[in-house]
Order: sequence, then C-alpha cells, then structure tokens
Amino acid sequence: MCGIVGYIGNQDAKEILLKGLEKLEYRGYDSAGIAVMNCECVQVFKEKGRIADLRGIVDMGVEANAGIGHTRWATHGAPSIRNAHPHQSDSGRFTLVHNGVIENYSELEREYLNDVELKSDTDTEVIVQLIELFAKNDLSTLEAFRKTLSLLKGSYALALLDEKDNETIYVAKNKSPLLVGLGDTFNVVASDAMAMLQVTDQFVELMDKEIVIVKKNEVIIQDLKGETISRAPYKAELDASDIEKGTHPHYMLKEIDEQPLVMRKIIQKYQDNDGELAIDGTIIDAIKAADRIYIIAAGTSYHAGLIGKQLIESMAKIPVEVHISSEFGYNMPLLSEKPLFVFISQSGETADSRAVLVQVKEMGHPALTITNVPGSTLSREADFTLLLHAGPEIAVASTKAYTAQLAVLAIVAEVAAKSRGVEIGFDLVKELGIVANAMEVLCDLKEIIEHIAREFLTVTRNAFFIGRAVDYYVSLEAALKLKEISYIQAEGFAGGELKHGTIALIEEGTPVIALSTQEKVNLSIRGNVKEVAARGAYPCIISMKGLEQDEDSFVLPAVHEQLTPLISVIPLQLLAYYAALHRGCDVDKPRNLAKSVTVE
Ligand code: F6R
Repeated sequence: MCGIVGYIGNQDAKEILLKGLEKLEYRGYDSAGIAVMNCECVQVFKEKGRIADLRGIVDMGVEANAGIGHTRWATHGAPSIRNAHPHQSDSGRFTLVHNGVIENYSELEREYLNDVELKSDTDTEVIVQLIELFAKNDLSTLEAFRKTLSLLKGSYALALLDEKDNETIYVAKNKSPLLVGLGDTFNVVASDAMAMLQVTDQFVELMDKEIVIVKKNEVIIQDLKGETISRAPYKAELDASDIEKGTHPHYMLKEIDEQPLVMRKIIQKYQDNDGELAIDGTIIDAIKAADRIYIIAAGTSYHAGLIGKQLIESMAKIPVEVHISSEFGYNMPLLSEKPLFVFISQSGETADSRAVLVQVKEMGHPALTITNVPGSTLSREADFTLLLHAGPEIAVASTKAYTAQLAVLAIVAEVAAKSRGVEIGFDLVKELGIVANAMEVLCDLKEIIEHIAREFLTVTRNAFFIGRAVDYYVSLEAALKLKEISYIQAEGFAGGELKHGTIALIEEGTPVIALSTQEKVNLSIRGNVKEVAARGAYPCIISMKGLEQDEDSFVLPAVHEQLTPLISVIPLQLLAYYAALHRGCDVDKPRNLAKSVTVE
C-alpha cells in the first residue's frame, strides 16, 4: 500500500518519478504527488486520483535533478490533496514521502508538536515536523532524521528532501519495502524494482532500521547508530516487457492469458536433472519433521491455501490447517508439538501475514514462505522460500499467482509424499502439463465466457457461486474475483449449506453459478441447482468433461481430479473480467483496493 520513488542524478527527475509512480500505481491510487528539487528550491505537486491526474498538474517547465514521489492508499486521513504526499515541515525546509503506518503519531504530536499547526490528517506529517523541530535544535539533518526514527513505532519506508542540501535524499526503512537502485551518475529509490527498471536493473536491498544517504554518485547505508554497512547490489531478474500490457487491453487479461506459460515454467523450475519434481532438501527435512502444517494467508492466497490443504492431506497424508492471517493472532489454535508454518503470499509483503510470521518465529517454529517476489519481506524473514515464478502480477485482482500457488502446493504435496514413502498414484509432471494445455484451450474460449458474463452478470446486483468439495473453495475465489472488480455482491457457498439459510436470498433471476468438477459430488451439486432454480434462480452450470449434462452452460476440458481447481478458476476469472468490463469498471484498479496490503 502506497508506493514511493526517488531520483537524484543528472537527468530530469520529473519524468523518471512520474514513470516510476505509474509502475507503482498498483500499490495505491487515491492520490499522488511529487516534490522536485534544484539548487534554488523544492517544489511540490499533488493531486487527488491517479498518476495521470498528477501528470496533468506538474509544471514540466521546472528543472530538477532530484526528487521524491508517492502514490497513496489512504490509511490516516481521507484521500485528498491535503493528505496526499509529499508532506512538508512548517518552514517548508523538509519534504517527505512515507509508506507505512506510524502507530504512536498522536502521542508524538502531543509530546513534541503542541506549537505546530498540522496541515494534514496524516501520521506522516508528524514525522516531517519532528525532523524540523530537531533540526532547529542544532542537529544536522542526518541526526534529526535519526532521532526522529528512534521515536517512531510502526512501519515506514521514507524518503526525505532537505531544501538546504540539494545533493542528498535521506532514506529509511522499517517493515515497509524499500530498495535503492544504482546507476552511473545517478541513484534511485523505490518501493519495488519495477518502478525503476526504466533506468537501472542494479538494486540494493535494505533491512529494517537502516538509513541510507543517497547522492548521485554515492550510496551510504547506516544502521540507527550511524555504523556504515556494506552490501552488494543484485540484478533484478525482470524484463521490462514483463511489466507492460503489450497488446492486451488490461493487465488482468494479460495475466489470465499467461497462466499456461506460468504452469510450464513452474514445471521446469521444479524439475531436477532426472525430470523428477524436487524442492530444496532443507525444506523436505522441515516437512518431514513436522507433525502438522499451518497455512497462513489472506484473500486469494488464503483460497489457494484451502486447496493446498486438500492436496497435501490427500497426497502426503500430513494434517494441515489453514488460517486467515489477520485472525490468527486472536484465534490461535492449540498448536501441535512440531508445527511447520507455511505463508502463502503473492507479494510477500502482506502485513497481516508478516505479523503472524514474526509471532511464530518468536515462538521458535520453522516457517516457509511461498511467494512470487524473491527478496520480499516474508521471503527474507522465513527460514525457507519457494518461488511461484509467475512473473510480476500487476492487476490488483490476483489470477496467475493463484494458479501458480496451486501448482507449487501440488508440487510440495508430491515431494512430501515421496519423502515419506507415500505413493500418490499419478505422474504430477505429466498431469500439470495437461493442465497447461487445458488452460490454453480455456484462454481461447473467451467469447463464450464473455457471452455468459453478458447473459448472467451485466445487470444483476448479486450473484452466488456454489460448489462442493474443492469446487466450494474455487467458488469462494470466484466470488472474491467478481466482487472486487465488478462490485457485484457475490458470495461463494458450499452447495449443501444453502438450505441452512442462504437459500432465503434467492429471488427471481438471481444468478447462481454452480461448479461441478468432481464425480463424487456431481449429482448432489446438481440437486442444489434444482433447489435454487425451483425458487426462481437463474442457474449456470460449469462442469468437467465426462460429468457434463445437456443443461450445462460451459464444459471444462478434463484434467486429473486433484488438479481441477487450476483450470475451473479460469472461466471464473474471465467471467469476473467481462462482468467488470461490461459494467464500466476499472478492471485493473478497482476502487478502494491496493495490490500489496502492507498495513494490518
Ligand atoms: C484478490 C487479491 C487479494 C490478495 C491478498 C493477499 O484478488 O489479490 O485478496 O490475495 O491481499 O495478498 P498476498 O497474496 O500478496 O499476500
């Protein structure tokens, strides 16, 4: 949530900052701003709305070789120009952008800033006013910055300009992601490497509680005590084309279409020289040592976890529990003697999941992160990481990361089974290959799905998805996808639960989309469809080849019954996409959301 960028060098900072913010817009898009600095002054431009709106008000005539920028997802204070970043200190000397949440900002304001009239409702402004207060008391900017940081409780990624020193950007990080990018006669700062790939692919990771002094020819990393830290840069393994839409009208559609490719990449990445599926031996040892696996995740990743439980329990015979990360701290189950925690997170930055990771690490339990982002916080802080290899996912609605999570979980299940001498009874490499082919077929059937979306979802105010067994879990994901991008009130239900209350919601014409991919529940889910149809619902059945009947609206190509969620979700992702499109919604940037939820 919120993205920040910074640039200092010989080129025009404005364009680099704006382009960087465009790449970070997935992190929040309710308001944005940049501050640019030259030898005379710092100038701030802020606007409510998207980066395109900000672009409209930036004076492109201003010359500046340094600057900082921010795209916001509001936490403290409504989305408005007043609350948009950058924020400035009273005298205008200091200018700051911030990603994160300062938990003790009210206390700090009461203790130190009684004489200062704050100009915004944000926690961020307190930071910049404190820096000015301490600088007025004869501290250097670095000392004032350090002293301020020592008082902050919470999360922050910060970039600071001092009008009296146009050769430096001061940077600090705690819990929120931040990288420094290195160039020839320039250096940059960004929440995510994608933002600055336009100018460099060399990045330095920052650790919590580090301060960085960024100049055009120099980057100095220090700890809070002022000790210098040396750290080698790494090359960001991203291709600029990975983060462009190409010929696709939306990132979401591009990412849906990439799923067959991602599937093949995962198969390849997780095969050893003998063509066997393999993961790091230390992870296998951790799985073997565990008497129970606890999967922790949020949103779509939580839905993947539910299917992961099915896969691991049925293939490897290890008991698994799945928990919503934001609830785990309050409703912690009685843990087994030797738990292994598995964190599933596309971004690897979800604050709710990280809070659980910190808690279980303190308790001394081993943790594995399954993520799409190497070097992300959850990856760095867990004992082990498995990567999704899905490539950057930019649309706010997760699609390819979800199916990648399912594939990696299936691989974990297979490898765990093998290591325990359990026979799974099928060749997972071959079956995942069949899944990739089936995905390709489905991505070619967009016209049919678009037609179904038009028929069922263009005018309705609500919609229900029903399923049994794993189809129920896919129904939850289908409903989330539809509601987050089309704003249709959608819910996923277990078919058998309907008559215990939910069926009261069925009215004349209510769309009910039923999934049937499992032979064991084919007849019973069809029975549930009849029950809702008898009460006026407008049913749409999506079934698996071999189970289909004449009444079905869509038939999925056959894949192994353990892997059906990997393909049944694709028409449902497309349904959500077309429903949102037909209703005129912003598919890639739905209202109120952000891609990476870095606040609890
Ligand atoms: C929905 C979606 C979210 C995320 C959730 C967790 O399409 O993307 O529900 O799944 O915010 O994010 P990660 O997986 O990054 O931890």
